[in-house]
Amino acid sequence: MTARTSIHGEWSTRLAFVLAATGSAVGLGNIWRFPYMAGENGGGAFVIVYLLCVALVGLPIMMSEILVGRRGRRNPMDSLRQLASDDGRSTVWQYAGMMGILTGILILSFYSVVAGWALAYIPNAASGIFAGATAADTQAIFDDLTANPWALLFWHTLFMGMTIAVTVRGVRHGLEKAVRILMPALLVLLLIMVGYAMRIGEFEQAVAFLFRPDFSALGPQGVLAAMGQAFFTLSLGMGAIMIYGSYLPARTSIPRSAVAIALMDTAVALIAGLAIFPVVFGSMLEPAAGPGLVFVTLPLAFGEMPYGSFFAVLFFVLLVFGAWTSAISLLEPVVTWLVERLEFTRVQAALLAGGVIWLLGIGSVLSFNAWAEYTLFDRTFFQMLDDLTANIMLPLGGLFIALFAGWVMTRKTSGGELAGEPGWFYPTWRFVIRYITPVAVLAVFLNAIGLV
Ligand code: PHE
Repeated sequence: MTARTSIHGEWSTRLAFVLAATGSAVGLGNIWRFPYMAGENGGGAFVIVYLLCVALVGLPIMMSEILVGRRGRRNPMDSLRQLASDDGRSTVWQYAGMMGILTGILILSFYSVVAGWALAYIPNAASGIFAGATAADTQAIFDDLTANPWALLFWHTLFMGMTIAVTVRGVRHGLEKAVRILMPALLVLLLIMVGYAMRIGEFEQAVAFLFRPDFSALGPQGVLAAMGQAFFTLSLGMGAIMIYGSYLPARTSIPRSAVAIALMDTAVALIAGLAIFPVVFGSMLEPAAGPGLVFVTLPLAFGEMPYGSFFAVLFFVLLVFGAWTSAISLLEPVVTWLVERLEFTRVQAALLAGGVIWLLGIGSVLSFNAWAEYTLFDRTFFQMLDDLTANIMLPLGGLFIALFAGWVMTRKTSGGELAGEPGWFYPTWRFVIRYITPVAVLAVFLNAIGLV
């Protein structure tokens, strides 16, 4: 019973898994979403809550997802169903997996549009238009792009095509190599940007903004946004890490892998913040500028740097790679579900799921131009999806996974997957996942809807 195998194969080593999962975690969430969310929610206090959520909510849930995935060896829905029935529990838990699959579809639909912006910026950067640009110029470049639905559609289509192409071949091919080289390259480039931002921007002001907490600036909605960001950036609550866990060889340490992934991911986000905010303050830009923040600020820095066009091209290429390795993990749960449950071939499954997601993405494309006026609760279609998935669906999915791993799985089954760890580990993890994590998620939810 314990020796189930995945029909999609296994990672060759623990490192391969850590690289792939880091590839999933590190992406637009770190470089595009983190700075813009921190900027909109006042900085320091948001960052603290986000870091707390990574440690107390994200890490234990990440371990749970890997554990469930490895033991179930199937798509998220079937892994949950299988493990529930193994332990004689109700199989309704599988619907948490179903919701995760749906969440992945919704996220990828707008994620691909933003990744399309990064793609569009590659030829932009190469043409040298950032050289000597002012803040008004870079803002105009961004506005011109997003005002043009055909351009957005073109880049969104290209990015979805790239994502489908990798998924068709199976995620294990190529992902490992790509992540091993490109992730360190992205990190080094971001550090160069930080160095440059220190020289040309208002570095101290940026550090104060990011790390000096002002809790009066962070309302209940800001706390919810910080928790949502933690889920989004760690790829948790929808089955991406679970599906990668299902390809993990038995006997590799789950907690060590999870800690490594979370550390890398958090480092990239903070470094991205330190590269962007000095430029924001140095150029008198608005931290709360919204989703365009990175696309308006970093080009300013590139515009003044020696070899700026070269670095800009490199940066957007690496950003696209980061987004690509994340997008692949967003598509994988629904594809494995179609293959395992409905017996599609991988090619059919990737084309069908990718096609539906592409279609849905058109809504996000239009929400920056033709549909910009159509809002619900003051939010465009794109903002609705971004909010709904990150702030509600991912934390809810994470809550279900925590409850599942802590309360539904027996000691024998969850303990079996964590057997190789030092003696203190299992009881600590189990306590956190049963009490701390679910209570924290619930408290943030209740607080946000005004109940506590
Ligand atoms: N973690 C990815 C990022 O930060 C996005 C993602 C979310 C990927 C959820 C998979 C699942 O860009």
